[in-house]
This record gives sequence, structure tokens and C-alpha cells, in this order.
Amino acid sequence: MSASSDRPAHDVRTDGPTGAGAGGGADLDAMHDLRVDYRLADAEGGLDAADLAPTPLGQFQRWWAEVAGDDAAAGAPRVVEPNAVVLATADADGLPDARTVLLKDVDARGFVVYTNLRSAKARQLQAVPHAALVLPWHPVQRQVRVRGAVEQVSRAESAAYFATRPRGSQLGAHASAQSRPAAGRADLQRALDEAAARWPEGVEVPLPEHWGGYLVRPVEVEFWVGRPSRLHDRLVYVSSTGAPVPLDDPAAWRVERRQP
Ligand SMILES: Cc1cc2nc3c(=O)[nH]c(=O)nc-3n(C[C@H](O)[C@H](O)[C@H](O)COP(=O)(O)O)c2cc1C
Repeated sequence: MSASSDRPAHDVRTDGPTGAGAGGGADLDAMHDLRVDYRLADAEGGLDAADLAPTPLGQFQRWWAEVAGDDAAAGAPRVVEPNAVVLATADADGLPDARTVLLKDVDARGFVVYTNLRSAKARQLQAVPHAALVLPWHPVQRQVRVRGAVEQVSRAESAAYFATRPRGSQLGAHASAQSRPAAGRADLQRALDEAAARWPEGVEVPLPEHWGGYLVRPVEVEFWVGRPSRLHDRLVYVSSTGAPVPLDDPAAWRVERRQP
């Protein structure tokens, strides 16, 4: 920890006129004084091209082990829901949209998420089969960003994942016409009850026709570390062909440092 900071790295600075101490940011007017001084990298190290794994998959695995594994001191993961990822899409008119989903697989092909195949995001992905992902790992002052092409995961792969979901989630997938208007919670509950009656306890809940995975096949994967004075580290693996390439092929990627 440098001499310029006598507070913990995660301490939110609320030095403004209304920002005196805990809760100082609760007033919307105090929002402009809310900022975190990113200093974790002082102790943990920033990101240097020489230290990066040879492939984006290797680097992602390395960071995942650090954020999803239990913190030795706290006995809990350093990031809660580290697989919560913001999926950004665009509709046919170019209007962007974004929402959090759960990352369920990462391998040499890319990043896999699951959703309703008739949802707003699904319609958008049908119109514009490209997406961006953001993993905002605030507690460790890191971020991973991905941009790439999107394709639907095979029904067999979706079924294999669906079978591992808790029964309540499986029934919910049948019950919800995601993104459609809902009259109220009562209708949703009725749809869930109907699904539960159709596939009682002990009976396998089949993969709904309208449910499955999307694979984001990256052309760029950025690893970001917060640093003091907003001079953050940004190292980006860029596909050498400009098209999606295997995430585990060192020859397929070059690394670029970008200004923060
Ligand atoms: C932490 C978190 C995890 C979520 N995970 C998923 C998910 O894995 N799949 C999904 O379809 N929606 C998930 N959602 C709900 C989405 O954010 C969103 O409300 C929903 O998919 C409808 O989006 P759309 O109307 O843009 O298609 C999650 C929300 C949160 C906050």
C-alpha cells in the first residue's frame, strides 16, 4: 500500500461536501464524489504483457482461479457470483441492449450462456449475431471484456446443461415466456404450477424447445486491472485474423496494450 493512501484499497472515497463518512454517497447529489482508489494492484501486481498467459483461455483460467476460489482469509470467494456477466446485444435498428446472465462454460470455442430462445436478447442475436460480454469483478478491481460473433449452442449440449439445473429452474424455464408482458405474478405462478403438475417430482423435466445456449466466439478478450490515477492496465488479446479463432491457440492471438 503506498504512502499516499492510508485507507483500505476498497474504501470508497467520499471526500466531497456531502460525503462525510459511511452513507455519504446515499444522496444522489454526492454521486460525483463517489470513487474508489484502485490500489489492490499495488500489492497484487498489475498486468504486464510479459506475465500474461500465452492464450486468452489460459489467462481467463488464471484469473478465474483467483476470483472464484475461496479467499484464504475470508473463507469465501473474492467475488460473489463471479460468473455473472453482462451480455450486450444490438437490435436490427442498432439500438443496444444489455443485461446480466450467468456464464456457464468457457473453453477453446468461447463463452457460453443460457437463456430463453424467444427472449428479447434472442431476437436481437438473430438479427445481429454479435455480442459483447463484461465480467465486472469490482471486489478485485478487475474486469474482463469480450467481443465476438454469436452462434446457438447445439440442442444436445443445451440438453446436457439443462439436465444439471435444479428442478425449480427447469420448471421456471418452461413457465416463463421471457421478455413478454406479464399480467401479474399470479399468472406466472399458475404457469409454474402447471409445469410442476405436468412433470411431477421424480419425472425428468425435458429441455423446452424455446430454451438453450449461445456461444460467444471472441475476436477480442480484454483483461483490465484498476490502477492509481486512472492509469489502469488494459491488455487485449486480438484475433490475428479479425475473425473468431480458438481461445487456446497461442499463434492465433496478438496482445495489445491500450491506453486506459
Ligand atoms: C445475476 C443475474 C443472473 C442472471 N442470469 C440469467 C441467465 O443466465 N439467463 C437469462 O436468461 N437471464 C438471466 N438473468 C435475467 C436477465 O438479466 C434478463 O432479465 C432476462 O434474461 C431477460 O432479458 P431480455 O429481455 O433482454 O432477453 C439474470 C439476472 C441477474 C441479475
